[in-house]
Amino acid sequence: MESSLEVGFLRAAEKAAIASARTMGYGKRKYSDQVAVEAMRDELNRLKMRGSVVIGEGERDKAPMLYVGEPLGRGWTEGEIYPEVDIAVDPLEGTNLCATGSANSIAVIAASEKGGLLNAPDIYMDKIVVGPTAAESVALNASVEDNLNAMAEAFQRDVDELTIIVLDRERHQDLIAQIREAGARIKLITDGDLSGGIAAAVRGTGVHAAMGIGGAPEGVLTAAAMRCLGGRMQGKLKPLEKWQEDRLRSMGFKDDEKVYDTSELASGNDIIFCASGVTDGDLLRGVRFFGGGIRVSSLFMSLKSNVIRFVDTIYREEGSKLAVSFT
Ligand code: FBP
Repeated sequence: MESSLEVGFLRAAEKAAIASARTMGYGKRKYSDQVAVEAMRDELNRLKMRGSVVIGEGERDKAPMLYVGEPLGRGWTEGEIYPEVDIAVDPLEGTNLCATGSANSIAVIAASEKGGLLNAPDIYMDKIVVGPTAAESVALNASVEDNLNAMAEAFQRDVDELTIIVLDRERHQDLIAQIREAGARIKLITDGDLSGGIAAAVRGTGVHAAMGIGGAPEGVLTAAAMRCLGGRMQGKLKPLEKWQEDRLRSMGFKDDEKVYDTSELASGNDIIFCASGVTDGDLLRGVRFFGGGIRVSSLFMSLKSNVIRFVDTIYREEGSKLAVSFT
């Protein structure tokens, strides 16, 4: 990926984070999402690429912006030979978290060369996500107990010293009971299994895995992050309602038992991943507004360059005379 595109993707995540952070605590999740979508789309359309949305805000008729298949970038109109790029977005991951001012909402973009990110339907996915230490130790189809024992061995600790992130949902009663039975600790989250999955792959967060059923689009984005971090994500598409089953079939997915591994979900060789904090979280600080500027914390990763950057950006207001603070 050209470095000007990389900077552009980071900026698009930052701008989406800033736009939604302005609405933090308004109690209007859809509005927070909408402003993030508009800000991200605006930035992405400035880039010298022929971009296509493969994971987005749903279908064109239901979501007028950043819909799956939407062309993005200047390459579609300028007639120049700009690179073809597939783009996966979640302009506001954790809409409720932003609407209530709770921790861990983020703005996310992943991109790859054409065909490098699975065009997964907007249904559910059963997932297991671990970092590099336990990457070779787990399997989605193994029992919860076997996975936790194998993880404990990989981390050279006891099972009761592992912490697993699980979305706090009715559907996870059985999973939660099994994790408790095996003896591991659980961090129940109200939303945001994408940032939970990333946290599992970063040392120092105190989280060792994320398990359970969440959104399939978030699953593809998590896999893109795992490719860059050396972690592992396995997922099985999980239609929980009839319309999801129909959607799955209409997109040509036939095998409900197929387990997708990290490099099937995000197969590209040139993957980049950007996430910017909207509200304060385990991994990233939220957007901070101060008289004279705005500060945004982001994670930027490139698989091809093998680089992981924690980026702290300040957008200064025109004419601001305020000194920038170190923290
Ligand atoms: P939104 O950003 O669309 O609000 O999704 C948040 C989220 O918690 C995801 O992190 C997760 O994958 C999904 O919703 C779970 O779906 P559900 O809330 O239907 O259980």
